[in-house]
Amino acid sequence: MARFIVTGGRPLHGSLRVSGAKNAALPILAACLLSDAPVALAECPELKDVGNMLSILSDLGAAYEREGGLLHIDASKADSFVMPSRISKELRSSIFTLGPLLGRFQRAVCTYPGGCEIGHRPIDLHLKGLSMLGVEITEEHGQILCDGRNMHGAEIHLDYPSVGATENIIMGAVRADGETIIHNAAREPEIVDLQRFLCSMGFFVSGAGTSDVRITGTKAPTKSVVHSVIPDRIVAGTMLCAAAIAGGEVTLNNVRPEHMASVLSKLREAGAIVLCGEHSVYLRAPDRLREVKIIETLPYPGFPTDMQAQFFALCTVAEGTSVVVENVFEGRFKHAAELARMGAMFTQKDRTAVIRGVKRLTGTQVYARDLRGGAALTIAGLVALGETTVMNAELIDRGYEGMERMLTAIGARIRREED
Ligand code: UD1
Repeated sequence: MARFIVTGGRPLHGSLRVSGAKNAALPILAACLLSDAPVALAECPELKDVGNMLSILSDLGAAYEREGGLLHIDASKADSFVMPSRISKELRSSIFTLGPLLGRFQRAVCTYPGGCEIGHRPIDLHLKGLSMLGVEITEEHGQILCDGRNMHGAEIHLDYPSVGATENIIMGAVRADGETIIHNAAREPEIVDLQRFLCSMGFFVSGAGTSDVRITGTKAPTKSVVHSVIPDRIVAGTMLCAAAIAGGEVTLNNVRPEHMASVLSKLREAGAIVLCGEHSVYLRAPDRLREVKIIETLPYPGFPTDMQAQFFALCTVAEGTSVVVENVFEGRFKHAAELARMGAMFTQKDRTAVIRGVKRLTGTQVYARDLRGGAALTIAGLVALGETTVMNAELIDRGYEGMERMLTAIGARIRREED
């Protein structure tokens, strides 16, 4: 068990380099199963979820090695289509191996995936999409058995633009006979990155970043690839929120500002000065943050659900009344009760919270209940009087390569303690 001890009251100054995106790296790692040729990934973050995904690949017969800044993956000897259930239960993204295994072996066996406790996270859209590609899906003793020997292209209309379902269907369809079109596809930058990766391997995918993604199946051998994972827009957004809350000014490098438009717009609305370079963002905090009238989480390019908790924390110390609506995942307000223990004032019903900003929070012991909620409590600690102890900090490690090190580098007083 790990915890962060944060001493509030110090403004942040300096610059940080943002790591590669976890949510882009995970499906790309799964997609390596589609290839006989070697893959080298740059900017693949060193996170627990990435480690778990690598363990899954290794259990399936793939080899990997980190060397300098590159992660080498060789799936040429992959020989199993049965996902190890122990790790799969820990990692929601284990479900991403379903499409690639079907593409590679025309078979896949998996269990229902685990992951962050942020509400009901079904996989019905993944399974529905794959079954439209001709995959026969049955359930036996808690296992999902997929038979893709008759896979074919199809026109699929997603009921909701699910990120994971879009990625899984793309990865299944690249080896299916004929053309697949996914309508109402998710448009996240991580899907564009996956498309870029698959195309470098020799597959035919187009339209990622729009609502219509087209895949033309091929049986041709794959090519070796060197790919650089896109920067993590959520890590970047979290650090900008930290600076906005704590005061001061920071510059983030290795950022794609165009991936963060909704977040940057809300930071400006809160009174921060935000200036963008091609691959950098500078933020100067105002003397006092202003309320953000309404934040509604939505699929990209709407405001990301993965930034909701951090903005919730920001609103608790902004002058005036802000409204936060969580539309994507129910049960993603677990940080709210913890922030209340620090003196935050709000009312919350179902998916809506109305927050009345206070001048200062008070440090106390709080519990991270999920990854982004834990990050929100940590940055709230930066502006709290006295010491804030964020328990269960290992949950935060799932998405940040040492959040305490990043914050220390820009002047925060924060340390990690482990049992
Ligand atoms: C991904 C991200 C996660 C982010 C989320 C929303 C990764 C590893 N995770 O998660 O960090 O918070 O996108 O941007 O990339 N849904 C269904 N049925 C399904 C799939 C999803 O009903 O089969 C629902 C979910 O319950 C949720 C919504 O669709 O309400 C969004 O889920 P989805 O976009 O699939 O998110 P994830 O891929 O799980």
